[in-house]
Amino acid sequence: MIEAKIRQYEECDRAQCRRLWRELTEWHREIYREPTIGGETPEDAFDEHLAKVGPNNLWVAVHESRIIGLVGMIAEEKEAEVEPVIVSAAYRGRGIGQQLITTIIAVAQKRGYRFLNVKPVARNEAAIRFFYNQGFHTLGHVQLFIDFSGGSWRPGLELFGYDFSY
Ligand SMILES: CC(C)(COP(=O)(O)OP(=O)(O)OC[C@H]1O[C@@H](n2cnc3c(N)ncnc32)[C@H](O)[C@@H]1OP(=O)(O)O)[C@@H](O)C(=O)NCCC(=O)NCCS
Repeated sequence: MIEAKIRQYEECDRAQCRRLWRELTEWHREIYREPTIGGETPEDAFDEHLAKVGPNNLWVAVHESRIIGLVGMIAEEKEAEVEPVIVSAAYRGRGIGQQLITTIIAVAQKRGYRFLNVKPVARNEAAIRFFYNQGFHTLGHVQLFIDFSGGSWRPGLELFGYDFSY
């Protein structure tokens, strides 16, 4: 367990947050075994996200002057979505993610949203387990699709007695 300071995003955090966004992409590349996910500069997506949500919807975890975690919120009128949440690989499993999610749950409650959503990809089993442990127990939408590219998917996810690949 590491104690981190959770605070609102500041402009001087940009370079470190871009690095965290790259780590988020690297995690998705790893779970899908697909090194092209996110393109050559996936960290640019951080700047796009910041422009979309604004600095008031981003928080960072600071430990020994270093930014080791990032959480964001996409706010709509009556509901909000957690996006992104990322802890730097060297610091995972030590309570930082929990501190970030606790912060964003408190903000969502204070702002009076009816729902706080999170939309992990189905392959991200570790994150789904993590969110469940943080209180996300209600399943909203399920996205099904047909892959015309013949990509490779993992079998064995059951829902309502049906087998899905994911
Ligand atoms: C998901 C993530 C944000 C969690 O942050 P973290 O700092 O590793 O999580 P914590 O240490 O706070 O763990 C909180 C709980 O989740 C569990 N947990 C965390 N990561 C886990 C993992 N990889 N596998 C199993 N359990 C895990 C912890 O054991 C802990 O459980 P407990 O409350 O029963 O003790 C982090 O692992 C991460 O950045 N993952 C890669 C990016 C990602 O998948 N983001 C989510 C995209 S939607």
